[in-house]
Amino acid sequence: MEECKPMLNTGLRGITIASTRISDVRGEEGKLIYRGFLVQDLAESATFEEVSYLLLFEKLPSDDELNAFNEQLVAARDIPPELIAALKTRPADSLPMDILQAATAMLANHDPDIRVSSRETSVKMAIRLIAKLATVLAAWDRVRNGKEPVAPDPGLSHAANFLYMMTGETPNDEQARFMDVCLVLHAEHSFNASTFAAREVASTRAHMYAAITAAIGSLSGELHGGANVRVMEMLLGIGTPDAVDDYVNKILDEGQKIMGLGHAVYKTDDPRAHILAPMSKKMGERTGQPQWYEMSKRLEKAGKAAFKERKGTDIYVNVDFYSASLYYVMGIPVDFFSPVFAISRVSGWTAHVLEEQFADAAPKPMLYRPESEYVGDYCGPDECTFVPLDNR
Ligand SMILES: CC(C)(COP(=O)(O)OP(=O)(O)OC[C@H]1O[C@@H](n2cnc3c(N)ncnc32)[C@H](O)[C@@H]1OP(=O)(O)O)[C@@H](O)C(=O)NCCC(=O)NCCS
Repeated sequence: MEECKPMLNTGLRGITIASTRISDVRGEEGKLIYRGFLVQDLAESATFEEVSYLLLFEKLPSDDELNAFNEQLVAARDIPPELIAALKTRPADSLPMDILQAATAMLANHDPDIRVSSRETSVKMAIRLIAKLATVLAAWDRVRNGKEPVAPDPGLSHAANFLYMMTGETPNDEQARFMDVCLVLHAEHSFNASTFAAREVASTRAHMYAAITAAIGSLSGELHGGANVRVMEMLLGIGTPDAVDDYVNKILDEGQKIMGLGHAVYKTDDPRAHILAPMSKKMGERTGQPQWYEMSKRLEKAGKAAFKERKGTDIYVNVDFYSASLYYVMGIPVDFFSPVFAISRVSGWTAHVLEEQFADAAPKPMLYRPESEYVGDYCGPDECTFVPLDNR
């Protein structure tokens, strides 16, 4: 048989497959831009609701527009009783990302517009998903711990309400604002794996929920949304700041990776890490757990220095490095780190689905259909002869 050519293993790295007006990651400059605005500026001055509006509607809202958008989000926070009943049937040790993914598909069953395909109905679905996924996640934490879900509080912001529904206690202003900033920072990040998954499904003209379900599945992988969990597991494993240096040397000697360092696109520190680091420090001090930030800081310094010494090149912190210790001291369960990422990124994903299906600007998107290079049998000029089961 003729020798097959080796399979192309591009992983689509460096291949531009679509145009977008939603966000840009400028890796060399360490810039993340949502619809023209630097993420630092948004994190400092805008709320998650404002950023969601910006992503969905392509502009910052006026006061009236934001109020109307908030009202729509608040009105959409409830989840169907049937879904809560279904959550109660799930094993308590179910993976939270699986719960979120399954719940998203179930929410489609309750959406009155599910059979209508228009920009208007898809925007409504986007708003419903942004509102409801936070409720689902908070409800799941209650249910799996044998507690009743807490109904949303219409008087609270999206971030504050999420913490309230999870804990049953209204967060103070600082806790609410920190949660809000985390949601802003994770809301969008261009054509990463989960966004591409959402857009690929949307390109078939499947509905919003189908696309978001695919995105959640993609985000569940440890190479994507699961990295912050691995960072926290690493910190918990190291245990104390004094053990950091030995850990760094051991990991690099063994050729392993330090979690939270390195990025496929950024060639300098991830701008989001610079915002999260002081938040991790402050919240660690507030809650009497300063060791997680201290360990992270020491790990950043030692890891960068040891990497440079061994490889001769620099390595940088990514978004997961400080979000892990921050979420931990905010009381978010470690297995909720990726789902919390998802309830924020749903803003970006839904904006991408809208762009994929309803963008006016050229070039018009079309059904994704990449080619593959077949390297299995029957790659030569002769076909394989099929032998019936009885004769094999
Ligand atoms: C994110 C990541 C996949 C980026 O990968 P990349 O830019 O394609 O870099 P590569 O995986 O090709 O690594 C290049 C070199 O740096 C090393 N390296 C990369 N990240 C490293 C890390 N975090 N710790 C130690 N070494 C690392 C690799 O081992 C490789 O060394 P080699 O050339 O001797 O084989 C990678 O940095 C990583 O796995 N980081 C840890 C996990 C993580 O934090 N993920 C979250 C990303 S947001």
